[in-house]
Amino acid sequence: MADFTSSTTAVPEVGTVPRHVAIIMDGNGRWATSRMLPRFAGHVRGVEAVRRVVEACYQRGVGHLTLFAFSSENWRRPPDEVALLMRLFIRTLQREITELASRGIRLRVVGDIQAFEPRLRDLILESTARAPANERMVLTVAANYGGRWDILQAVRRMLAEHAELAADPSAITEPAFEPYLAMAGLPEPDLFIRTGGEQRISNFLLWQLAYTELYFTETYWPDFDGAAIDAAFASYRQRERRFGRTSAQVGAGR
Ligand code: FPP
Repeated sequence: MADFTSSTTAVPEVGTVPRHVAIIMDGNGRWATSRMLPRFAGHVRGVEAVRRVVEACYQRGVGHLTLFAFSSENWRRPPDEVALLMRLFIRTLQREITELASRGIRLRVVGDIQAFEPRLRDLILESTARAPANERMVLTVAANYGGRWDILQAVRRMLAEHAELAADPSAITEPAFEPYLAMAGLPEPDLFIRTGGEQRISNFLLWQLAYTELYFTETYWPDFDGAAIDAAFASYRQRERRFGRTSAQVGAGR
């Protein structure tokens, strides 16, 4: 919890490298169809991009990387694509978890995992239970996640635990509410990246993106790599993060 500073109740410390990067990995399907390949080939190549980007962020000292792997709305896709994605998640978890842990990367999954098939659910629980001895990075995968789902589940859990709050709404403060969110205790993302050319948040971390810098690129996710991360970080370094203050205040370090 010590890591957490709300950007709306205090001004967080800002470094030259984003401490927390959150990514919407978009464009797998278009990458594939532009090459006359089935959409699924794009997802398979997308996993390679995940590996490259985890490594690039790790090397650059990013403490938290959060990836949007499957949204609450992705169930609307054709059933065979959903089934193939589930199989890919299972295979990727099985292949990668030992390596991640041995490098000090802790895996977390946020989202409503009850909706997944038991095999995937069990694998998620097993993989996320591994706590690396020497933690260097936290990799959070958002799976069956939606920002609205998260806010609602947090409200429900908070009121279930503290029924008295319903009679005293003024006691519902940020510090009282935040611990119930799926990203509880994590620093808010400094940098949000969306690949694939669309410029929208798509129900990702609605609460946490309050003061996050947004970066959109045309690059399809399977083509994203360390150089693309460097370009995003270079853009981030140009930003003046005011958190509601004036530019003069930021310059004076206030
Ligand atoms: C968006 O591309 C991508 C997805 C919905 C799935 C993301 C999954 C991966 C990158 C692979 C596995 C990841 C992990 C963390 C194991 P799209 O299909 O929406 O592309 P399009 O917009 O071009 O159709």
